Amino acid sequence: MPKIVISGRGGCGKSTLVTLMAKELKEQGKTVLVIDSDESNLGLAAMIGVKPAEKTLMDYLGGKPAVMDKLMAQIRGEENERAEFFMENSGLSSLSPEFVNWNGSLALMQIGKIEHTLEGCACPMGAIARDFLNHLTVEEDQWVLIDTEAGVEHFGRGIVEGADSVLMVVDPSNDAVLLTEKAAELTEEAGKNFGAVLNKVDEKTRLILEEMLAAKNIMIKGILPYSSTLAQINLQGESLDMPSAIEELDKLITVIT
Ligand SMILES: Nc1ncnc2c1ncn2[C@@H]1O[C@H](COP(=O)(O)OP(=O)(O)OP(=O)(O)O)[C@@H](O)[C@H]1O
Ligand SMILES: [Mg+2]
Repeated sequence: MPKIVISGRGGCGKSTLVTLMAKELKEQGKTVLVIDSDESNLGLAAMIGVKPAEKTLMDYLGGKPAVMDKLMAQIRGEENERAEFFMENSGLSSLSPEFVNWNGSLALMQIGKIEHTLEGCACPMGAIARDFLNHLTVEEDQWVLIDTEAGVEHFGRGIVEGADSVLMVVDPSNDAVLLTEKAAELTEEAGKNFGAVLNKVDEKTRLILEEMLAAKNIMIKGILPYSSTLAQINLQGESLDMPSAIEELDKLITVIT
């Protein structure tokens, strides 16, 4: 099954969609790896109800200075054209428990977190995420969902290159529509599949968004309504659940299969 990047503007519901999809896929008997590639995301573990592993991928690879050294060597021409952190392909079941934590058939891993002020940009995180995804093999009943930081920086960092498709979460705002158009162009350039999921909509905003995205030839693959219960569960830091959205989630999962 595909490796899917979940993208969108700040606060549109990326982590919420990743969580709801992951839980529904688990319900369906699938194996799911959630990759947190957002270095400032603190709430995802609580949302999916899986504790982070002891190490981030960055820590597992020796920390940011070690990763930076390798990237700098590549820039100086002492390494291959692309710095490689993984030499062999590996499947989900052979990933080290040092950086992947499983709760039944649902796992969480984090690429890295910003731990200190002035520690530099997040580019090394993009480099290891891309290389990890490029070496990750996924079987028929396995899914990989990649939660990203707000905006389209992950396109620049090459994370999309290591994935198969992009799902763009679109909340009812003009900014979200403009960003979706940009992301669709970048996804096409990367040669990957693209689709939108409307989130936090009511009847009126859904209709307007459908019209706006149709005018831009952007396919809508799923629709999640605004739910005050969901917002409340998130606020209280509890594991997310949205029983009213199960039918929509099942449809979305079928459409992208
Ligand atoms: N369908 C929905 N109904 C009500 N509230 C929602 C819905 N989807 C998301 N939210 C709320 O919107 C807020 C942002 O959601 P979430 O953290 O998933 O967004 P995000 O895109 O991951 O944000 P960030 O850009 O910070 O990573 C949260 O308070 C969440 O509970
Ligand atoms: Mg998030």
